[in-house]
Amino acid sequence: MAGATLSAGAALTIRAPGRVNLIGEHTDYNDGFVMPIAIDRYTEVRAVARNDGRLVLSSDGFSSADEYSLSDLHALSNRSSGGAAAAEEWARYVCAVAWALQDAGYALTGADLQIRSDVPVGAGLSSSAALEVSCAAALLRSAGHEYDLTALARLCQRAENEYVGMRCGIMDQYIACHGRAQHALLIDCRTLEHRQVPVRFPDAELRIVVCNSMVKHSHAGGEYNQRRAQCEAGVKFLSARRVGLRALRDVSVAEFAALSAGMDALVLRRCRHVVTENERTLAAAQALEQGDARRFGDLMYASHQSMRDDYEISCAELDLLVELARPIDGVLGARMTGGGFGGCTVNLVRADAVPRFESSVAEAYRAATGKQPQIFVCQPSDGVADVTGAGR
Ligand code: GLA
Repeated sequence: MAGATLSAGAALTIRAPGRVNLIGEHTDYNDGFVMPIAIDRYTEVRAVARNDGRLVLSSDGFSSADEYSLSDLHALSNRSSGGAAAAEEWARYVCAVAWALQDAGYALTGADLQIRSDVPVGAGLSSSAALEVSCAAALLRSAGHEYDLTALARLCQRAENEYVGMRCGIMDQYIACHGRAQHALLIDCRTLEHRQVPVRFPDAELRIVVCNSMVKHSHAGGEYNQRRAQCEAGVKFLSARRVGLRALRDVSVAEFAALSAGMDALVLRRCRHVVTENERTLAAAQALEQGDARRFGDLMYASHQSMRDDYEISCAELDLLVELARPIDGVLGARMTGGGFGGCTVNLVRADAVPRFESSVAEAYRAATGKQPQIFVCQPSDGVADVTGAGR
C-alpha cells in the first residue's frame, strides 16, 4: 500500500483481524513453527489526518478520547521513568506503534484515530495485535508511506516488546498482516516466510469453533516472560552440548531426549513442549494438506496435553472445555489457543455437530463454573486491508 500524504481532514479506514492459532504454541519466540488463521473479527480504525503532530485516540469500546503529542511519546514508554501507566492500556498499544514507526525513521504528521473492534479483549485472540497493525497501517498510510507486510509485523512486535514490555513473538502481528481467506499459514518464525495451507477437508465439512472460557488472560504479567527465560536457559544448556544450536528449533525430539540428560527438570519440561510442538505443527500442516482431519485433531489434543503438563500454561477452565468437547460425536480435536492462562479453546467440529456442540458444552461449562462461555464459528480471513468507503 502506498500513496501521497493525506491532507489534514482527509480520512481512510483500515482494518486488521484477530487470530486463532490452530497449532504451534509458544514456538514463535523459539524460532519455530506456528499455524494460525486470521479470523473474521476485526479492529477497524478510521484515521483522519492532522498536520499538528498530535495523536487523538478514541474508541467505541473504551474510555473517552486521549490526546498525545507525537514528539513526546518516548516519555510515556516503559523504558523511561514516566511509565506507560500514564496512558490507558489500549491507548498504550497505539502510542507504542507510533513510537516504533518514528523510531524506525517514518515521519508522521498526526491523526485522529477512531477505533472500534469486535475482537474479544483478553481472550487470547490477539486483539492487541489487531489494534497495533490497524493503527500502524493507518498512521503510515495517512503520512503517505509505503510498507511491506512483514516489516509492518516486525515493527508492531517491536512496539509491544520494547514499549509495552511484553516479550511476545511474531505470530500475532504476522498473521494480522499476512492472513489469507480460507487458509491457515504455516509460518517459519526464523525465516519469516510462510506457506498458505487451504483449510479444507475433502471428506467432511468441518468448522473451526472457538470457545471463550471467559477467564481473562493477562500474560503481560510475569508468566509469559518467565517461559521465555526458561527456554533461553534450555538453549544455553543444549548449546554447550551441540555446536551450532541457536534455538529450540534446532533440535529434533530424538536429539532432545539424548541431549537433555542432566538438565534442570522444570526447564526440561518447558523445552520438551517446544521441541515436540514444532514437530506436531509440521505434522499438522501435512495432515491439513492431505485432508486428514482425524490426524489433525489428534495433534490438537496432543498439543493441549503438552501445554497443560509440560508448559503449564493451561488452567482448569480450559482443560474442562477440552474435556467437554472430546466425547461429543463430530468433534475431531480441541486445544487451548494463544498465550494461555485463560482465553479460548479452538475446536475442529463437523458442521452438522456444531449446534449440539454449542449447547452441550455451554450447558456443562455453565453448570461447572457458573460462567457462560462465548462460542462461535470462525472463518479463515484476510489480513490487514484498506476498507475506506466499505463501511461506516
Ligand atoms: C501470545 C504471543 C505470541 C505467541 C503466543 C503463544 O499470543 O503474542 O507471540 O507466543 O502467545 O503461542
